[in-house]
Amino acid sequence: MSDKVIIFDTTLRDGEQSPGASMTKDEKVRIARQLERLKVDVIEAGFAASSEGDFQAISAVAAAVKDSIVCSLARANDKDITRAADALKAANAKRIHAFLATSPLHMAVKLRMSPEEVLEQAKRSIRFARNLADDIEFSAEDGYRSEMDFLCRVVEAVINEGATTVNIPDTVGYATPELYGEFIHTLRTRVPNSDKAVWSVHCHNDLGMAVANSLAGVKIGGARQIECTINGLGERAGNTALEEIVMALRTRKDYFDMVCGIDATQIVPASKLVSQITGFVVQPNKAVVGANAFAHTSGIHQDGILKNRDTYEIMRAEDVGWAANKIVLGKLSGRNAFKQRLQELGIALEAEADLNEAFVRFKTLADQKSEIFDEDIIAIMSDSAAAEEGEFYKFISLSQHSETGERPKSKVTFRVDDKEVTSEAEGNGPVDASLNAIEGIVKSGAEQLLYSVNAITSGTQSQGEVTVRLAKGGRIVNGVGTDPDIIAASAKAYLSALNKLHDPSQAKLNAQMTP
Ligand code: KIV
Ligand code: ZN
Repeated sequence: MSDKVIIFDTTLRDGEQSPGASMTKDEKVRIARQLERLKVDVIEAGFAASSEGDFQAISAVAAAVKDSIVCSLARANDKDITRAADALKAANAKRIHAFLATSPLHMAVKLRMSPEEVLEQAKRSIRFARNLADDIEFSAEDGYRSEMDFLCRVVEAVINEGATTVNIPDTVGYATPELYGEFIHTLRTRVPNSDKAVWSVHCHNDLGMAVANSLAGVKIGGARQIECTINGLGERAGNTALEEIVMALRTRKDYFDMVCGIDATQIVPASKLVSQITGFVVQPNKAVVGANAFAHTSGIHQDGILKNRDTYEIMRAEDVGWAANKIVLGKLSGRNAFKQRLQELGIALEAEADLNEAFVRFKTLADQKSEIFDEDIIAIMSDSAAAEEGEFYKFISLSQHSETGERPKSKVTFRVDDKEVTSEAEGNGPVDASLNAIEGIVKSGAEQLLYSVNAITSGTQSQGEVTVRLAKGGRIVNGVGTDPDIIAASAKAYLSALNKLHDPSQAKLNAQMTP
């Protein structure tokens, strides 16, 4: 029987530490639900002590998720660990993840603690955590740059105190595959009680080797948990990409001889959801989830594929959830056809009212755009989910004028709470003019960090998906808007970001600003 590798997803915690990738509570819940459909074993939902907002988000994820273990990060001290346990109260299965740095540099410069003090604190914190949960993970931060003898002592001690998983992060992405694999192997060989815990790897991608290092940690080192994120999101250059790990284990089962419980057909929907919510566009040539990952353009390749797909394909697009870009619905499609397509896409609607609301959005889009693709339906559903989060500002209509040599003007009508307002402004371009018109009324004073436009499907018939990232008062929010008219999509995205800044229940200091 092949060994099982535990997939620990940290998109909602380490992923959120990507500059700008902050997520609201409701967005975390939407992603967590998709991670559950993906069947990840553990969902690290956040860092409870980092902010009240993250505490609330973890609590909401803990209440929403039924099958996966929900985890919160905590520094290795009583206060953080208590906060993590409190946030996880509603979870069916919970894990507390305590971390403490063990490298000489981090201990001396960051913690200003001696190795003996670090060892004592690690032990104390796990002893404390064990009173609050059975499932306890200990991470030796900057583990890969730690001294072997000292790290062995720390790991042995925390396992003795009851840690059930020990994680050895390559926090700064310094490792190389063979060396990292051997490092984990040496640790496992030298720690006398190593068989009493699951060994875990957590690699950053600073040198582009996070996936290779993690796999070596499993293959050479004997680790049985991989920490990873959707689209490789994460601090700096990112973390280990879940989709690459899963498909490497599956496609090269002959070599790894490991299994994991992931439903790979949910990978692409997860990738799209995370990309849409965070505004982090997936590069086209990204393995598995990039738009070109399964595209064959050269004549020789196309010819080979037509004769036998195995000539140039080691995986099937449909196995990871790519649906062919086919027209699925149109103007004449009814409510039942729409409902059935939602089911086929794995989109669950909790109430009949949600279906009605989504169907109205679908009909409106079908009036503007004759061919509706799966991607359009996913966008409609994301808009509906965002609307459920509460819309203080709501887009109604827009008209704009632009002509070569003239300064563009825009007139935007939108709702502020229950009052309809219309505002006009000029700008450098029609998008700028529209956002100026909105800002003229709202006067948010927020700083614009990002504006990006993407075509949801191919061709100029496509809907534009716009992301606007705003920063204000220590918070960073992403607003997304879709529409066949990219100026209208831009106004919707701006209003969506303003809604998040306005809604106190979504208030959350982004993870980068954690003290
Ligand atoms: O990279 C790292 O060391 C971490 C730990 C907190 C697990 O993210
Ligand atoms: Zn990390």
